[in-house]
Amino acid sequence: MKKKLVSLLTVSAMTMSMLVGCGSGAADTATQTAETVAETATDVAETATDAAQEVADTATEVAETVTEEAAGSGDLADKKVGVCIYQFADNFMTLFRTELENYLISQGFSKDNITIVDGANDQATQTNQIQNFITQGVDVLIINPVNSSSAATITDLVVGADIPLVYINREPDADEEARWQSNGWNVTYVGCDARQSGTMQGEILVDLGKEKVDLNGDGKIQYIMIEGDPENVDAQYRTEFSVKALEDAGWEVEELDDQVGMWDQATAQQLVANSLSAHPETEVVFCNNDAMALGALQSIEAAGRKVGEDIYLVGVDALTEALEDVLAGTMTGTVFNDHIAQSHGAADAAINYITGAGNDYYIGCDYVKVTTDNAQSVLDSLK
Ligand code: BGC
Repeated sequence: MKKKLVSLLTVSAMTMSMLVGCGSGAADTATQTAETVAETATDVAETATDAAQEVADTATEVAETVTEEAAGSGDLADKKVGVCIYQFADNFMTLFRTELENYLISQGFSKDNITIVDGANDQATQTNQIQNFITQGVDVLIINPVNSSSAATITDLVVGADIPLVYINREPDADEEARWQSNGWNVTYVGCDARQSGTMQGEILVDLGKEKVDLNGDGKIQYIMIEGDPENVDAQYRTEFSVKALEDAGWEVEELDDQVGMWDQATAQQLVANSLSAHPETEVVFCNNDAMALGALQSIEAAGRKVGEDIYLVGVDALTEALEDVLAGTMTGTVFNDHIAQSHGAADAAINYITGAGNDYYIGCDYVKVTTDNAQSVLDSLK
């Protein structure tokens, strides 16, 4: 570009000097004019070169930024993630949040930019934490609500601040999920369908055969149910579908007791101790999760009963201790609640919002039935 401009202006300068004629005064003037034109040409050309270089530099910078953004993980290290857990003192959610943090880091987030807070099982505390995250300007929020029924309020807060939101573990109701879709909001739920886990708990017993499970041979299965937080759909569905699986197999059932253990081992231990002394005819203890099944087992053993011989016990989650009990025969079975798939799914959804790829409004995963047959392989897969 510089060369072309110089030669063009030089040619015009020479032409001018030729046109001016042969007189020496005139010739001098022509030469001076030609020199001035040539100098101007050089200045113009240099300015043009500088401008061209600036344009090229800017273009390179823009191209680099675009490439980094397209690569996605390139700039995740600068992104801030806020994670709200309903309660740190929950065995399953502890596995979940540990895996979530490790996976986020493995995907390129900086540990310093991941903040995980404990809602201490109090919605007001959690709502405050969400407001703080909004003030801090996090890039994405991952929320395990204390109360699923508070989801609409939480969504309004977060969407109002234009922050994408990934719900985990406690599924908001169908109306709430429909709202995300109809408004095209960046909100999704990552989790499993609790009906499946309840059904699998029942099937573990059905697979053993009615003759075995109906210990007193009265044609009915006498059971006690220990529920998680009844506000939580996991508790509601597991309670309903575990019993339904027995009924669907044509078994008659009799509920001796139904108590709320709030997902907690010590609470369940106390409840089951009371139930067993009031109802020694209990054949099956259903627990909505493994933490409570571990508490139930303590009371079963304290009552001098033996799982697999004079009582049956099932849980959900596949906590390591519960898997070891299944292998030892001290628990009849459990259901693997895949915290690895769920935490990775939640992190991937967060990344998809950050990169602009977006997500479906529901991201599901499957439970796995666990008995003595596969407890060892599930245990190995968790190591
Ligand atoms: C798990 C429970 C846990 C609860 C917390 C359930 O999916 O099975 O162990 O306490 O989530 O919301």
